[in-house]
Amino acid sequence: KKIIFSGIQPSGAMTIGNYAGALRNWVKLIEEYDCFYCVVDMHAITVAQEPAILRKNTFEAVALLIACGVDPEKCALYIQSHVPAHAELTWVLNCNTMFGEARRMTQFKEKSSRHPENVNVGLFDYPVLQAADILLYQTNLVPIGADQKQHLELSRDLAIRFNSRYGETFAVPDAYIPLKESGGRIMSLAEPEKKMSKSDANENAYILLTDSPEVIVRKFKRAVTDSEARIAFHKTKPGVSNLLSIYSVFAKVSISEAEKQMQGLGYGDFKLRVADAVIAALKPIQDKYSRLVGDKEYINKVLDEGAEKARYAARKTLSKVYRKIGFYSTK
Ligand code: TYM
Repeated sequence: KKIIFSGIQPSGAMTIGNYAGALRNWVKLIEEYDCFYCVVDMHAITVAQEPAILRKNTFEAVALLIACGVDPEKCALYIQSHVPAHAELTWVLNCNTMFGEARRMTQFKEKSSRHPENVNVGLFDYPVLQAADILLYQTNLVPIGADQKQHLELSRDLAIRFNSRYGETFAVPDAYIPLKESGGRIMSLAEPEKKMSKSDANENAYILLTDSPEVIVRKFKRAVTDSEARIAFHKTKPGVSNLLSIYSVFAKVSISEAEKQMQGLGYGDFKLRVADAVIAALKPIQDKYSRLVGDKEYINKVLDEGAEKARYAARKTLSKVYRKIGFYSTK
């Protein structure tokens, strides 16, 4: 049976980009495979966090994942810092990662120019921790959005290098990414040349999974399009294309079907149709979320069980790694 791993940062609410690029595939893959799904609080602290807010965001992220359909009965759902092997394997991988290859990571360059006041060593090491997350579980497939492709490539490179240096140790993971036009890369509603991101300063740029119907309508109404009045998926029309992508994901139709359904509409009505599809798809998620977020006892139980499963699987790989690299053991 194939093994799946993926992670999400608890940095505030999640966007429809997170859902379209990754979460909906987490849910899909859960039915068939052994899945490990992780809220990566250790990654989150590579940018400054307010402790009380990080704690709250982490709890809420878990509730929201379950509400999205990440059924904890069918996977290991847990918090990264509850499984010490993530940090332990990172150290070993650090010593097998070249400074130059870490420096090439575009997300590091981007984040360090966005936060010049806090270019910490953890931010530089972010992709190595991500590789440790993945390689610890002998992962075969990693459901992620297109922006994580380079990090996944690094994980593969590190696995291949380690295996050839020390003998077969890690499975070499493959990325599982939707096509860009089918949700792999949802763009900002305000600047459709940019990725939709929850860290955007302009809150009209993104739709949160927890946004109310009124807010969703308002944000879509303000979405940037173009001056053509033609609804078509085309690279010269990034705003309209992005709206078609979003509609295609949330109404569960192909891009060409989406184009067909929108033919003849003005942009105003088109935007409302997209908003309606998103609102309808998010309704059951939001209902479930508001029930779960009050049930701390249940969430804590899920997390304890998830961490236990993950610790067991992670220990196996870490022991193997320690043996291969020559760490002394009394066993
Ligand atoms: P994070 O929390 O930034 O994003 C979580 C997932 O959402 C995807 N995503 C998008 N997909 C499409 N369009 C968008 N606009 C969009 N924005 C975000 C991301 O690609 C990601 O899959 N580094 C990871 C967290 C992580 C991880 C891992 C992932 C840590 N360890 C191991 C996989 C495996 C991240 O960026 O999370």
